[in-house]
Amino acid sequence: MTTPTIAANDPCWCGSGRRYKRCHRVADLDPERAVAEEARRRAAELEAEKYVRPGRLSPRREVPADIPRPAYTLDKHGRPRDRDSARPKDAETIELMRAAGRAAAEVLAAVGAAVRPGITTDDLDAVAHAECIARGGYPSPLGYNGFPKSMCTSVNEVICHGIPDSTVLKDGDIVNCDVTIFLGGVHGDTNATFLVGDVDADTRRLVDVTRECLDVGIAAVRPGNRVRDIGRAIQDHAEGHGFGVVRAFVGHGIGRSFHSDPQVYHYDNPAARTLLEPGMTFTIEPMITIGDWHHEMWDDGWTAVTADRSRTAQFEHTLVVTDSGAEILTRA
Ligand code: MF3
Ligand code: CO
Ligand code: CO
Repeated sequence: MTTPTIAANDPCWCGSGRRYKRCHRVADLDPERAVAEEARRRAAELEAEKYVRPGRLSPRREVPADIPRPAYTLDKHGRPRDRDSARPKDAETIELMRAAGRAAAEVLAAVGAAVRPGITTDDLDAVAHAECIARGGYPSPLGYNGFPKSMCTSVNEVICHGIPDSTVLKDGDIVNCDVTIFLGGVHGDTNATFLVGDVDADTRRLVDVTRECLDVGIAAVRPGNRVRDIGRAIQDHAEGHGFGVVRAFVGHGIGRSFHSDPQVYHYDNPAARTLLEPGMTFTIEPMITIGDWHHEMWDDGWTAVTADRSRTAQFEHTLVVTDSGAEILTRA
């Protein structure tokens, strides 16, 4: 065994061009410590890969000039001006919302059919964008309050409002695809969580229970019930399975406005006293977590993730209150 005669600040013998002390000195003096350090570095890398990170955005997608746009696209910041009330819609508006709702469901089905390992969330955005335009509609998220893309894609621990980018979906992921179309002067808003390849049993259970949460929420819709009853049904179902209900994001009135009253909480909120009446149109869109329901925001101002990085799923429909219950408008 020879002792290296090389000084700490000399170039390393390996030819890396780095100083010896920053390169192979530790490995030469203490091979065991070098192995341990390498293992720690690799473990940290693997830990970071478990979670979603921001990717790169593609250039802005254009919408043909002959497609009617929502008014907020004319504002510099994409801010909506006046929002609708929670009041029941007239028959003509509801008929338009049936068409917009059906179109939204078709766009979501096309996006869902494209989900597979290896595809990027930006690829899904391209599908949503093209399918909206093919139906003569405008993809409502594009430019809404400055949102840069035509749909939301929320992977694994992302709760909602994930921005489509260069992120590659991999086997075992889940992705929520949230599609909204502006067609005939009204919005249709729907989302679903899709499995990417082979997904573990705990996550599949989360996705199933979240779909059921939307179902039990819809089942609580009938004239005479209050908005609060929807949230209570959802919370009971989710917590009965040991899951959490995200508080920070709510369902919403929808029609000529993308978002309006009423706010539809997905947990039991005594303040949600609004009485349901035939003709009211709103979304129900529960976000359910395997772990704790608290959230954090990314620096992009949009992406919401679970604070504990546990996985989370969501499903959404736009519906109208009928004389005896609810009619789902976003059914293909
Ligand atoms: N579609 C979402 C919802 O269900 C809203 C997305 S807003 C956006 O309410 F700006 F992020 F697109
Ligand atoms: Co919505
Ligand atoms: Co939505």
